[in-house]
Amino acid sequence: MKKGFVFDLDGVITDTAKFHYIAWKDLAANLGITIDETFNETLKGISRMDSLDKILAYGHRENDFTTAEKEALAKKKNDEYVKLLADLSEADLLPGVHDFLVQAKKRNIPCSIASASKNAPMILEKLGVLEFFGHIVDPETLKKGKPDPEIFVKAAESIGVAPNDAVGFEDAQAGIEGIKAAGMYAVGISATEVLAGADLQVASMTELDIEQLINQ
Ligand code: G6P
Ligand code: MG
Repeated sequence: MKKGFVFDLDGVITDTAKFHYIAWKDLAANLGITIDETFNETLKGISRMDSLDKILAYGHRENDFTTAEKEALAKKKNDEYVKLLADLSEADLLPGVHDFLVQAKKRNIPCSIASASKNAPMILEKLGVLEFFGHIVDPETLKKGKPDPEIFVKAAESIGVAPNDAVGFEDAQAGIEGIKAAGMYAVGISATEVLAGADLQVASMTELDIEQLINQ
């Protein structure tokens, strides 16, 4: 019997991956680096600074910037990303998400957010679903990012649920690995990528049966 749900944000609750991609692609282009959608897959679930490091390494420019310069580059990317989110609203929730959250609330199943994004509270507020989450893990408090299980363990414990009794929802390979390493049941959500190691994979949350999930 499962007692709590832990959600990634980008790609699970809403499709902000496309906005991250636009902002990173523009920043990389300014540095003479071309990134494509295949490379962008490797940035999913990865923190802002680690994403920048990956892009610089990809363009063989990893030794060209000081820490302060890299911080300025990351800020520039985030400023563009936040601008792209200006019109985000309830209409941007991915299919099935709102219904699933309502059903979880009806059954008194607590939900939390395990996202590497520092923008998570703002995004959830714009989407109109902030009230459904008992806790949002602050990524600043983490020692390691995904695929380390730390964020998922914290997210489960923050809502009073042992990781073994929790279900995690993820769209990225690094996230599925983190959920499994935390000892949780992993639901992969992707219509395009095969998420290795997921206990169940669906193309969208509309396919999920909450009763079946609880009884895992
Ligand atoms: C999520 C996304 C990543 C993003 C990270 C940090 O994990 O999948 O693409 O880099 O959050 O997001 P932030 O909003 O803090 O830049
Ligand atoms: Mg994601």
